[in-house]
Amino acid sequence: MKKNILITGGAGFIGCHVVKLLVNNYPNYNIINMDKLTYAGNLENLKEIENHPNYKFVKADICDIDKVKEVFETYTVDSVIHLAAESHVDRSITNPFEFAQTNILGTLTLLNQAKNSWLNDLEDKLFYHISTDEVYGSLGDTGLFLEDTPYDPKSPYSAAKASSDHFVRAYNNTYGLPVVITNCSNNYGPNQFPEKLIPLFINNIQNKKPLPVYGKGENIRDWLYVEDHARAIDIVFHKGRNGETYNIGGFNEWKNIDLIKVICKVMDKKLGREIGESEQLITYVKDRAGHDMRYAIDSTKISEELGWNPSLQFEEGIEKTINWYLQNKDWLENIISGDYQEYYNKQYNLR
Ligand code: NAD
Ligand code: TYD
Repeated sequence: MKKNILITGGAGFIGCHVVKLLVNNYPNYNIINMDKLTYAGNLENLKEIENHPNYKFVKADICDIDKVKEVFETYTVDSVIHLAAESHVDRSITNPFEFAQTNILGTLTLLNQAKNSWLNDLEDKLFYHISTDEVYGSLGDTGLFLEDTPYDPKSPYSAAKASSDHFVRAYNNTYGLPVVITNCSNNYGPNQFPEKLIPLFINNIQNKKPLPVYGKGENIRDWLYVEDHARAIDIVFHKGRNGETYNIGGFNEWKNIDLIKVICKVMDKKLGREIGESEQLITYVKDRAGHDMRYAIDSTKISEELGWNPSLQFEEGIEKTINWYLQNKDWLENIISGDYQEYYNKQYNLR
């Protein structure tokens, strides 16, 4: 079947993997990537598909009501995969309003346009909202997030994402808009902006710079390789049931400090350094305000209902990720030479 899919945030980390997968695997679909190109958006991520006939890029803000309407009408959009968001917790602590604007009002703008455009014919329409496990709050030593775990967001980022999830469900319940939501755990892999833990530390190790570990490094995250997430999005887009939520995760929990030591060791080997050299760079710094202790996803539902399972073991995924950053030094250099340095100095006060 032919489809005109609007993907928002397709120039970002996860978005670029989703765009590439759909453009390559579904030549019948028209993929329209709408992205504002904030500091996190990078068209370099999409070089390999930018001239494909079934791909179109539109530079626009999801909060711009007129532009969103124009895009829906110009491309007869019949499905949305919504990834655009402000995504970094540390930035949400310094600038919560920007997160409310993009994550809540931007989502509402898209939902409302979808409702207006599709009102008379909801057949084969879908608004697919990409969310995070952080909406569920923070776990203690045991337990996993399930789809019916009560929302308890604790950072401005997760509060804004939680609010956007509620609006999506409200549009499903009130206007009958066909929707699906997935809440995924922490992603890692190629093309991630080097403000997030894994690419930041790979970059700092390469440049022999301090590795700023928040608090005692005991916080736990559940890590999933980004291409496994993109594959899950493809499956949910095609097979997910209207109104449902699916949790996505790798059953792959790591205490930050243990993960960091693995990265140090792999990097030492790849850079021909003595094993243990990079660990010397570990520097404990002031903890993040309100730092969530543990996230962990139970992804049984998507596995049993839709047949999705992670394909990569973590050791393989981290190796592939480190290789990518080492082979794409220009990609990192281009980012680091811009506003990044100013953000970095303000955030860490380390040299
Ligand atoms: P990212 O920060 O790498 O990319 C976000 C993209 O959205 C960028 O290309 C940016 O230019 C674009 N964007 C931001 N504001 C916009 C606006 N107002 N209008 C149009 N485009 C805008 O983020 P990511 O890590 O790829 O995350 C993508 C989505 O997945 C987000 O919704 C995030 O909440 C969710 N998510 C991320 C993770 C993770 O570990 N990264 C985990 C679970 C869920
Ligand atoms: P991050 O990649 O920012 O993702 P999230 O906060 O959405 O989980 O951080 C992952 C973990 O690493 C989190 O517990 C915070 C920690 N962290 C550090 O210790 N130092 C850092 O410089 C960063 C960016 C994160």
